[in-house]
Amino acid sequence: MIFTITVDGPAAAGKGTISRALAARFGLAHLDTGLLYRAVGAKAAEGMDPVAAAEGLTAADLARDDLRSLAAGQAASRVAVLPEVRRALVEFQRRFARREGGAVLDGRDIGTVICPEAEVKLFVTASPEVRAHRRWLEVGGDAAQVLAEVRERDERDMNRAAAPLRPAADAIIIDTSGLEIAEAIARAAEPVARRIG
Ligand code: C5P
Repeated sequence: MIFTITVDGPAAAGKGTISRALAARFGLAHLDTGLLYRAVGAKAAEGMDPVAAAEGLTAADLARDDLRSLAAGQAASRVAVLPEVRRALVEFQRRFARREGGAVLDGRDIGTVICPEAEVKLFVTASPEVRAHRRWLEVGGDAAQVLAEVRERDERDMNRAAAPLRPAADAIIIDTSGLEIAEAIARAAEPVARRIG
């Protein structure tokens, strides 16, 4: 079975939680594509050329334990504006999306650029305040600073020329601002269950 679910949306909207739940429930492989950009960003921050980093990315790079920080998120969104970096990561993501057995991929451009032929496309979003609060619960620190970083990353991701963050025309929008996790997952699972039959 070839079956792809794309889960796009801004930072801390709930994409990862929803994607992992869909993968477990329907027995699909899951790829967090943000991790690819975070790994490239981390290498660029260490002085490596970002395009070379993207072209030579290894499993060990993705397993680094410093990729979840706010700084790694900012570094990721800075290298993610570079078309050559995006291009270097396309093939791997496309192959993953169309692998036998089905796949869920979460990111920013999966339904629009990487896999426009996906069977189910979701766009998971929430207000900047709600997303910043969730991120702050994870990372702590100064709440105003976390909100400022969420807004800054939104701005860069939505307004870049290469594969900007936006919903595909046929994406189902799920706003998780006022939803419990279980409810958000149930809404996401519904179109998948309908399609898988
Ligand atoms: O999803 P996550 O917060 O891990 O993504 C980190 C950054 O990587 C995003 O802010 C975005 O700039 C970039 N990204 C992207 N395209 C994707 C996934 C992530 O540009 N498919």
